[in-house]
Amino acid sequence: MSDPIVIAVDGPGGAGKGELTRRLAEALDFDLLDSGAIYRVLAYAVRKAGLALFDEDSVVQEAKLLNLSFECLDDGVHVLLGGEDVSSQIRTEEAGANASKVAAYPSVRQALLQRQREFLKEPGLVADGRDMGTVVFPKAQVKIFLDASAEVRAKRRCLQLESKGKTADFDTILKEIQERDDRDRNRPVAPLKAADDALVIDSSDMDIETVYKTALDYVKQKTGLKVE
Ligand code: DC
Repeated sequence: MSDPIVIAVDGPGGAGKGELTRRLAEALDFDLLDSGAIYRVLAYAVRKAGLALFDEDSVVQEAKLLNLSFECLDDGVHVLLGGEDVSSQIRTEEAGANASKVAAYPSVRQALLQRQREFLKEPGLVADGRDMGTVVFPKAQVKIFLDASAEVRAKRRCLQLESKGKTADFDTILKEIQERDDRDRNRPVAPLKAADDALVIDSSDMDIETVYKTALDYVKQKTGLKVE
């Protein structure tokens, strides 16, 4: 029997990976791994336990004990920590920045590696993250790196926040995005970068429909899967 198929989608925050991977997983009837949620929940658990994000030993202990699960509901995938739904708490800008901090520790990444690989089952997995195609699933049959300029990502994030009735300052959000990019790109282990064999899609001037069609055509070409 052939191995389950992995579609690895990496790229910086706000490039549109979330929506792209959701749509691909739905179209292919594959499971979805949102690896960023794991780092977000870990940072949340560390803070909740009263521990410091800069204390690598404490963070790695939390990573080893992390009681995390995903639940598929009508309005999307929810993230549970010890049975408590923490989906909204982990989706803030601060939670993203904290996730990026704990994700920079090599020991933490090592502690979470096997757990991420365990998401792979028949018929396949769509994996969303920063190092899906380079480290977690280096043999993925399909690797896509979804990029967009920091300015475009900041603008999209502002519109997203405003649509939820929240205030958004473009310059502050741009600065936060640039800081997170720098940390994710320059860490010593599993930095954010395109795998050598990844298709790079720059979504700066593309709408989600075009990104989805481009990615789906590539998936079909690489795997031979028939998908409508
Ligand atoms: O994709 P996201 O915004 O939910 O990710 C939050 C942070 O987690 C991101 O800034 C870096 C880290 N992360 C990572 O290091 N490796 C991954 N595979 C996914 C996320």
